[in-house]
Amino acid sequence: MGLPATFLWGGATSAHQCEGGWNAGGRGPCKRDYMTLDENKNRLLTYIDDAGNHCFMPLGSGSQLPEGAHYAVFDDCLYPDQEGVQFYNRYKEDIALLKEMGFKVFRMSIAWSRLFPHGNETEPNREGIAFYKDVFTELRKANIEPLVTLWHDDTPLYLDEVYGGWQNRKLIDFFEHYANTCFEEFKGLVNYWLPFNEINNVLMFLDMFGQDPSDEMFQAAYQEMHYKFVASARAVVAAHRADENNQVGCMICGVPFYPATCDPKDIMLSHAMWEKGILYSSDVLCKGEYPTFAKRLWREHGVQLDITPEDLATIKAGSVDIYTFSYYMSSAVTTHSSNDIVGGNCTTGVRNPYLDYSEWSWAHDPLGLRYFLEKVYAQYKLPMMIVENGLGAVDTVEDGRVHDSYRINYLRDHIREMKQAVENGVNLIGYTSWGCIDLVSAGGEMKKRYGFVYVDRQEDGSGTFSRIRKDSFYWYKKVIASNGEDLR
Ligand code: BG6
Repeated sequence: MGLPATFLWGGATSAHQCEGGWNAGGRGPCKRDYMTLDENKNRLLTYIDDAGNHCFMPLGSGSQLPEGAHYAVFDDCLYPDQEGVQFYNRYKEDIALLKEMGFKVFRMSIAWSRLFPHGNETEPNREGIAFYKDVFTELRKANIEPLVTLWHDDTPLYLDEVYGGWQNRKLIDFFEHYANTCFEEFKGLVNYWLPFNEINNVLMFLDMFGQDPSDEMFQAAYQEMHYKFVASARAVVAAHRADENNQVGCMICGVPFYPATCDPKDIMLSHAMWEKGILYSSDVLCKGEYPTFAKRLWREHGVQLDITPEDLATIKAGSVDIYTFSYYMSSAVTTHSSNDIVGGNCTTGVRNPYLDYSEWSWAHDPLGLRYFLEKVYAQYKLPMMIVENGLGAVDTVEDGRVHDSYRINYLRDHIREMKQAVENGVNLIGYTSWGCIDLVSAGGEMKKRYGFVYVDRQEDGSGTFSRIRKDSFYWYKKVIASNGEDLR
């Protein structure tokens, strides 16, 4: 049967991880601009307190500065996102490379603060609009469909500082205005939109880092998600109103949970992880309503949400057109004690003895992708798109070449299972592998690379930013040209 001729092959990036130009063209800052790494690779934000001391604090969605402090750049620190991989200056060269691979779609994000430096202005920054218009036009010239994320972990700093970020209902209005501006300004250039990247990871992160997260942390996470659900629904309604060709997806961090043993308690734990991690958000975004188990989840932590009847009506009216998700790995969970804990992509679980792991302890589990596709498709019956998948690995340049057979193997295995899911009836419309051009990892590291294109930017900040085609570049070109038939 094979994949449909219209299948959208491509790759994905995000603004803060690849653009650079953090203070160019009128762009305002976001927290990630002030993110540096310590020697243990912990992500820290740098600021000056009211007494003038240079200070550091861990990056987290709830991190707020102490009274009288302000974010600051220190000369002796490296800020990987400030320069990214210079897509801001090199997008023409990068798009030419994507075209050479035969890309049909390119997922990228708009930096909210490039259009609205504070996030709450009425009029957008025209330089920011012009930049993205140029990028989308360049993509169109290359016959590449843009797939655009509106929020990829980069709320304008002003909204975080002055309004307390997504704990504040006002952000829904600011986001709606930003989304509307994009739909109007980029009409005819962009038809595929994703309001929020991995909207479910606010909740998943709690279990990953919180060890024993407090009820207050759950309260904040569920409230933030509710405001984002409403903002997403308003964006869906506005996108459809602006252009009937617009298609909007959710973006779920897709981690299938496995019980580590057949102990019924483990089965129930993995069932609960599916509900909390995946289905809670998916139901709201795809069915337009909170699932029946939502009340139980809130009750477990004494959560009292600010939800109005208008919010619920908005959510109902603004369900998405496509089930869009990222997939890197599965997670095995257990109620039994274990010393072999592994974590990655917003989850923590125990080592699965049937799987291999990457250098960053992310499981290599292509069957997990098929499992996720088939299970979720049966549940929501919406067209699906995989918008992130890939292997983060250290690459070495030898005589100007990068021999990344490990990456090819990972992608081949996943594409095979994705094709099998299509054979089995899943309506899958596209696949964009993550970080198609090397970019700064979410963890802030440069050495964790995903791309088909190597970027000469090193962990210590050195490098020329020049681009090199890896072996996987030529392999993926063949995959696309054969519509997934030639995976050798
Ligand atoms: C996804 C994010 O969670 O995972 C990306 O949407 C991120 O922004 C990707 O880069 C891979 O994670 P990492 O930590 O390897 O960069």
